[in-house]
Amino acid sequence: MYRTHTCGELRMAHVGQKVTLSGWVAHNRNKGFLCFIDLRDRYGITQLAFSESDNKDLLAKAVELGREFVISVSGTVRERESKNPQNATGDIEIAVEELTLLNSSKVPPFTIEDQTDGGEDIRMQYRYLDLRRNAVRKNMELRHKIARAVRNYLSDENFIEVETPVLIKSTPEGARDFVVPSRMNEGQFYALPQSPQTFKQLLMVSGFDRYFQIVKCFRDEDLRADRQPEFTQIDCEMSFVEREDILQTFEGLVKSLFKDVLNISMDEVPRMLYSQAMELYGSDKPDVRFGMPFCDLTDIVKNNGFAVFDQAEKILAINATGASVFTRKQIDELTEFVKRPQIGASGLIYCRVEADGSLKSSVDKFFPTEELAKWVSKCGSKPGDLILVMAGTTEKVRKQLCELRLELGNRLGLRDPFNFKPLWVLDFPLLEQDEETGHWHAMHHPFTSPLPEDIDLMQTNPGAVRANAYDLVINGVEIGGGSIRIHDRGLQEKMFELLGFTPESATAQFGFLMNAFEYGAPPHGGIAFGFDRLCSLFGGSDSIRDYIAFPKNNSGRDVMIDAPAPLDEIQLKELGISVRN
Ligand code: AMO
Repeated sequence: MYRTHTCGELRMAHVGQKVTLSGWVAHNRNKGFLCFIDLRDRYGITQLAFSESDNKDLLAKAVELGREFVISVSGTVRERESKNPQNATGDIEIAVEELTLLNSSKVPPFTIEDQTDGGEDIRMQYRYLDLRRNAVRKNMELRHKIARAVRNYLSDENFIEVETPVLIKSTPEGARDFVVPSRMNEGQFYALPQSPQTFKQLLMVSGFDRYFQIVKCFRDEDLRADRQPEFTQIDCEMSFVEREDILQTFEGLVKSLFKDVLNISMDEVPRMLYSQAMELYGSDKPDVRFGMPFCDLTDIVKNNGFAVFDQAEKILAINATGASVFTRKQIDELTEFVKRPQIGASGLIYCRVEADGSLKSSVDKFFPTEELAKWVSKCGSKPGDLILVMAGTTEKVRKQLCELRLELGNRLGLRDPFNFKPLWVLDFPLLEQDEETGHWHAMHHPFTSPLPEDIDLMQTNPGAVRANAYDLVINGVEIGGGSIRIHDRGLQEKMFELLGFTPESATAQFGFLMNAFEYGAPPHGGIAFGFDRLCSLFGGSDSIRDYIAFPKNNSGRDVMIDAPAPLDEIQLKELGISVRN
């Protein structure tokens, strides 16, 4: 028998018992006539004790054991002389009587500790060792716990989990497809799903009524901390529902996850229109852990002879509470921050509202105190605050000020990762226009229904049509998104036409869905949550990689298995692919 207990299990109550444990050597402390080994497994660490007086041969064997050797030991649990309150098993140790070496190990390339000496690259190359570390394993356990809570909640709500295929045809979610050549159909390719969108809609036509799937999705897009080329969605769809039903159902899911997993009781999730989110925070995923909404100064500051404002379409400000104490250097840093090429602002204007109420701005020459007082009243500033102002075209200044607001939130300590503030963002535009080509693209995807009252605008003013779509945003991260779908062939055809499809190309790509709509498609809608993002949010981290067992790096590579990799000539030939050098 390899073990009677795990390495995290034994306590004072077990003292005197004979036990067998198996695991990895985490530390080996050789004191000459004594040797202590910390034995690690998934559940914890237990101290093993060997002494010259107990068994000289066994001690000699024990001191030879290197880090990460796999051993099995039997012995008696005894109370420790010097206890370790940091460790759950720290009151006891095992007086070892038998030791079996199950496998040796090379010296690992980094320490298997919470605070490891291994850099990101080496840890990814040896991810199986990285996963032995407490910190990483805990993330996987959290992921499992959330997945289980999702399945329980949705199953109790009558949802059934259905698997949809992975070798499919392109689904337009806005990214590029990963494609797989077909050997049996030379010159033809499958696409990996960017999401199971069309399949879940077909399941509604099949009468499945409530579907979910924890499912891998694939998107060939630029990677960031919250994006992986293959990631997991909690994908859901419901029939005979309106938007309100979906919001209620999935608010219920999110609340129950917070309660089950983190023991946090969540209030009702507030709602905001897309247009408000853009106006107040310059983002469709505002971080509402802190206030600092935008104040529009355009009307009060234009035409005062200050060219930057006079030439701008929009002049927006934020009021940073308590930040009048920022030094010149700190304000210069913020100016440099917004001038970085990624943000691209030309400058930043400030007005300090000093503790005594006096006003000091970087544009005093153009704006005497009585003018600055108008800024203060518009921004609702109090003594001790700092007003920061940016000017430019509406779209640009919103984006730039949004970045500055988030940076200020960081600097002022307003973005505590464990202070969870969810928000529904509603009524996204249905379409967005490509600046260069003038073509319309679906902002969510082409199956999203317009708001019924906006359908007529599709012909006359497509840019003004609002979608019956919603996103769940938590702490400034888009955690989920969905919509009520089109379930009528005519409307779906109209949508494809707006997106620039000819009737033939729409039929070639999506004929299967439009045909299905002619066989009794029920009204339906759904949502998908980014499961990896949800896990990293619950874990208090910005990076979803920490919550994926075997993630890809920023170039989309798996450095452990070294993928992607070239194929040999024979395989390429079999697939009918010729590679030009
Ligand atoms: P959407 O494209 O908004 O909607 O995706 C849903 C959620 O998936 C997460 N997500 C990602 N997570 C990690 N890496 C990525 N590359 C990545 N891309 C997206 C986000 C996002 O909110 N079929 C629709 C859903 C629907 O309409 O029901 C869809 O896929 O958290």
